[in-house]
Amino acid sequence: MRVEINGKTRVAGLLGDPVEHTLSPLIHNTIAEMMGMNVCYVPFRVSSQHLAGAVQGAFSLNILGLNVTVPHKQAVMDCVTELDPLAEKIGAVNTLVRKEEGYAGYNTDAYGFIRELAHEEIPIKGECAVILGAGGASRAVVYALAEEGIGRMYLLNRRKEKAEAVCDGVNKSYGKELMIPMAMEAYRDIPEKEVLAVQCTSVGLFPDCEKCVITDDAFYRKVYAGVDLIYKPLETMFMKLVRKNGGNAYNGLKMLLYQGVAAFELFTGEKVPEETAAAVYDRMCRELHYE
Ligand code: ATR
Repeated sequence: MRVEINGKTRVAGLLGDPVEHTLSPLIHNTIAEMMGMNVCYVPFRVSSQHLAGAVQGAFSLNILGLNVTVPHKQAVMDCVTELDPLAEKIGAVNTLVRKEEGYAGYNTDAYGFIRELAHEEIPIKGECAVILGAGGASRAVVYALAEEGIGRMYLLNRRKEKAEAVCDGVNKSYGKELMIPMAMEAYRDIPEKEVLAVQCTSVGLFPDCEKCVITDDAFYRKVYAGVDLIYKPLETMFMKLVRKNGGNAYNGLKMLLYQGVAAFELFTGEKVPEETAAAVYDRMCRELHYE
């Protein structure tokens, strides 16, 4: 049962624009309810021009913590008093945690992705990954994989120069040639025969469910596990192609779940039990009509 809002209620929330379709309130309020914690999570629609004022105001209002979404994940880095080293490398913040002087910025998208892989028992250390896309979501994924000791990554992007910029950053950061940039159509040149593939572009997102950046079965025959960061639809064209060619495929819903779980843990300092995360996941599926 929901804890009653009273004088001891702590407020957390989401800063974004738009925020109307977010699942974050469902994630956080369900966790709070199940853990019997007096925390209430609400969406705040904030335009870019008001972002700095919103963060300052949130601190004045004693708000416990905030998630940050499109279009503020980069800009909010100027509003924090501390920055987690991983968020700094990624160049984006999606979670603000209240400290003495202001908010500390974290990137729980990266933690969410690693927890999804751990949950699905997909190995990372020493493995080879192919990443499709070089935008914001891709940056969280590649730094997360680098932190977890991936052996090698190929980063494929429509505009190769963007892939080169991301690879340069990662290779400099880790002091080795961990990542190789490629144009999207160069996928035939990937020498490895067994790869983890991560789909980080926006192609295939509802309602364009029939689209995918690579459609050639020859590519998918190399893929033993494929993760699409998209979770609408439940099964994307990328996932269908992975499965058709014998690999296991996963959507981005667990990454979304675990980025929320990680944020809740940072806000409150309490560990969220796995059974609670599983119950939240069921509610997310119901909300999206994925039962
Ligand atoms: P996000 O924050 O979701 O990662 P983003 O930063 O806008 O969003 O990045 C979108 C990614 O999808 C980019 O890799 C983009 O490729 P470009 O850098 O070449 O633009 C990719 N993308 C979007 N539309 C695409 C399309 N029609 N074909 C191929 N890639 C596309």
